[in-house]
Amino acid sequence: MVSGGGQTQSAKLERSDGRFHSRDMASDSKTFHFDEVAKHNHKKDCWLIISGKVYDVTNFLDEHPGGDEVLLLAAEKDATEDFEDVGHSDNARSMMEQYYIGKVDLSTIPEKPNYKPPQQAAAAAPPQGNQSSGSAVKILQFLVPLLILGLAYALQYLRKKD
Ligand code: HEM
Repeated sequence: MVSGGGQTQSAKLERSDGRFHSRDMASDSKTFHFDEVAKHNHKKDCWLIISGKVYDVTNFLDEHPGGDEVLLLAAEKDATEDFEDVGHSDNARSMMEQYYIGKVDLSTIPEKPNYKPPQQAAAAAPPQGNQSSGSAVKILQFLVPLLILGLAYALQYLRKKD
């Protein structure tokens, strides 16, 4: 996947310990398979995918102003949306460059895995069934006391008559 001649530069792709300049990042970079990036998903080894680029943020976890938890949660998936949703500053964006280690082959990123349209599943079917049985209970709650009252009056009436 690395285009011609890129191999000679592979030393630059060493992880967090070897930082390099943004100039390097534009010219030659390794392209990772998503599965390979996804393996680096823990505190001692954490890579992120943001806008098709791969960042080794292992050494940044403790420094991240938003905390390490969010970064760990953003590993093992395409974190672009999470990153953008926060509205990171230009400063944050330029900081990223020092953690850049390559690109991700976009075709290897899986579709959002466990995403099911929640509105249809949650909102549509169940309430309908519950509603009908629920309203039956309400009618009964109203009718039963009425019946008891009616019986009581009827008994009283019959007694008076005697
Ligand atoms: C290499 C990647 C990242 C870098 C260099 C970075 C850097 C920063 C910086 C410098 C800040 C301080 C506020 C700012 O300047 O915008 C920040 C805040 C924050 N970041 Fe990141 N960030 C990265 C990735 C992420 C990701 C993937 C998430 C996932 C949700 C995230 C969540 C947050 C949150 C929640 C805050 C706190 C915002 C606040 O309290 O106002 N960051 N980040």
